[in-house]
Amino acid sequence: MWVRYDSGMGLPDGHPLKTRLTELLGTPTPIIQTGMGWVATPELVAGSCEAGAFGFLAAAALSLPEVEAAIGRTKELTDKPFGVNFLMDAPGAEQIAQMILDHGVRAAGYNRAPSAALIDKLKAGGVLCVPTCGAPRHVQKAEKLGADIVIVQGGEGGGHTGSIPTSLQISACADAVSIPVVAAGGFKDGRGLVAAIARGAAGIAMGTRFLMTAESPVPTVTTDRYVAAGLNDVIVTSEIDGLPQRVIVNELVRELEGKSSLSRLLFAFRNAMELRKVSGASLVDLLRSGLAMQKNEKLTRSQMLLAANAPMLAKRAMTDGDPVGGYLPSGSVAGVIDDRPTCAELVSRIMAEAEETLGRLQIR
Ligand SMILES: Cc1cc2nc3c(=O)[nH]c(=O)nc-3n(C[C@H](O)[C@H](O)[C@H](O)COP(=O)(O)O)c2cc1C
Repeated sequence: MWVRYDSGMGLPDGHPLKTRLTELLGTPTPIIQTGMGWVATPELVAGSCEAGAFGFLAAAALSLPEVEAAIGRTKELTDKPFGVNFLMDAPGAEQIAQMILDHGVRAAGYNRAPSAALIDKLKAGGVLCVPTCGAPRHVQKAEKLGADIVIVQGGEGGGHTGSIPTSLQISACADAVSIPVVAAGGFKDGRGLVAAIARGAAGIAMGTRFLMTAESPVPTVTTDRYVAAGLNDVIVTSEIDGLPQRVIVNELVRELEGKSSLSRLLFAFRNAMELRKVSGASLVDLLRSGLAMQKNEKLTRSQMLLAANAPMLAKRAMTDGDPVGGYLPSGSVAGVIDDRPTCAELVSRIMAEAEETLGRLQIR
């Protein structure tokens, strides 16, 4: 019989939830809080890390001075290790990688368009490289490029998503590589954690569940929509930015679905101008980033223009508190979550439930 998890001491040797993930990240639990634009702020990251999880700060929607300030603020709030999630093909990627190195950040998260040069540089500085992938062949490519850990997101996951269900995705990806695989998409509790480990994962990564915590910066008027959502209210749409995204259906999504192509593009153009003001990016930067996304994601030109929508529409809901005119990226799991615990309550609840499940299954 293994010794139980203790929030002060972490996981003792021989515990079934002590995995290669906890060893590499140096965390007391095999739980990751993912990098969500406008949501994974220093307060949420510090809350997750202090609770025993590993938090990723979201840098993609911030200007460079804001990224530096957010890393500094996170270090003020916690002395635990944390990561920074950013886009390797966006303007400023090299500077963000340098900040990660300069600040001794433990891990770098990224997804589309991994840059071999940046990965090499980060690894040479001792940073763990943790991409998120959505298919076994992408996981293999990520491993070849030097990933230390890979998060695999199944179709139930929030934000940009694919169509392979998490249940199939985990085993297929775990079998395809030798690095630890972390399961994402649809997790909220200890039963899910044990199921993910049974399928070959070394832990779980959660977005929506952490968005719905007390430390999340998302205004209550917006999280109320997540609490109220049922399983059928979380849908996949390509109307936001041209790529399939899992969201809670709201007034904006219904309006976009009814718009003509031309008015959708004009709407995206206005959002691109707003993004320019907020992020400090120049028109040339925005165009370069849009063209990189067009190439990497094989988008049409009109899809590329639509891409400017996402950051501003997310900000509207996540920061400005407008769940009607903004969009609500969400995993299906929002349909079965109806509370907003602190990160500490959440993590200890998940660990207790995982142990209760292991006991019930007589895994000891
Ligand atoms: C509100 C929200 C914003 C997100 N923003 C990003 C992002 O900026 N970059 C990214 O790589 N993934 C983003 N994601 C995806 C998450 O990082 C994560 O992979 C996903 O939420 C996992 O599924 P779950 O929501 O079922 O836990 C976002 C997800 C949500 C719910």
